[in-house]
Amino acid sequence: MKKHSPEYFVSEIKRLKEEKNAIILAHFYQTGDIQDIADFVGDSLALSQKAASNDAEIILFAGVKFMAETAKILAPEKKVLLPDINAGCSLADSCKADDFEKFIQENPGRTVVSYVNTTAEIKALSDIICTSSNAVQIVESLPPEEKIIFAPDRNLGNYVLNKTGRDIVIWNGTCHVHEEFSLEAILELKKENPDAKILVHPECELPVRMVADCIGSTNALLQFTMKDKGNCYIIATETGIIHQMKKENPEKIFIPAPPRDSTCGCSECNFMKLITLEKIYNCLKNEKPEILVNKKILLKAQKPIKRMIEISQKIGL
Ligand code: 13P
Ligand code: SF4
Repeated sequence: MKKHSPEYFVSEIKRLKEEKNAIILAHFYQTGDIQDIADFVGDSLALSQKAASNDAEIILFAGVKFMAETAKILAPEKKVLLPDINAGCSLADSCKADDFEKFIQENPGRTVVSYVNTTAEIKALSDIICTSSNAVQIVESLPPEEKIIFAPDRNLGNYVLNKTGRDIVIWNGTCHVHEEFSLEAILELKKENPDAKILVHPECELPVRMVADCIGSTNALLQFTMKDKGNCYIIATETGIIHQMKKENPEKIFIPAPPRDSTCGCSECNFMKLITLEKIYNCLKNEKPEILVNKKILLKAQKPIKRMIEISQKIGL
């Protein structure tokens, strides 16, 4: 089969997008070439807001399955495509619906706050959804006497608990990328670059969060680099975000925080990186793989996601 150049895929993707009235939504963890052809690049919250309001007939999600599912739940009348159906998420996988139902039964009377990094089934079992950019505010929006279940990320849950002081029972799940950052290696880098600021995603473990100059969602970290007067940053989240950081701050230096296993090089999400330009092209051309969600689950999952979007809008996120 003939091998095409990246330029070929870029121009064919543009042509197919117009022909089919399709929009490409890309997460910050995608590779730079994909972020550059997307109609919209953002963090999980911004991407779900965009999925809920756009005029396209087709949404192609350059991200992972839970993100595409969220788009389908928010825009059921649209065709939602994911270029590689194996683009999952270790965190979403760590919380299975049967086990979670049992967990809710074992902790009765609690409001269920679930991170967007979950399957549609988990969302359908939840009272409200949050992302890393609004988790603290979503929990704070609940009446103070309300007891909470937070799932599935134990690090984000612990971060929210420390920030809000609320009564929270936390599901024991983690992300294999954020869990792996090495505090020792970060401190070593800081020694070599004493002026560098340490930027950390809240899915990281407490010791890494404790040395952070800024903790936030991918978008919050990006905004920090744009406002801050410094010129060097150690980035403890998936390396894809560095593409936007460099674009916005070409004169600044960004150093990826190393994982514990230094033979892995830098910290990449293998699921996010399954998406390629070629797969996007094939997916748009053939309009598959398509993301479908069982109607009953979709309707149940819609409520807690819409609740999150409404609260985020109210507080200006
Ligand atoms: P954001 O909320 O920053 O987009 O994070 C998504 C994610 O998958 C983190 O691992
Ligand atoms: Fe899931 Fe972690 Fe990848 Fe984010 S970085 S999509 S939480 S596996």
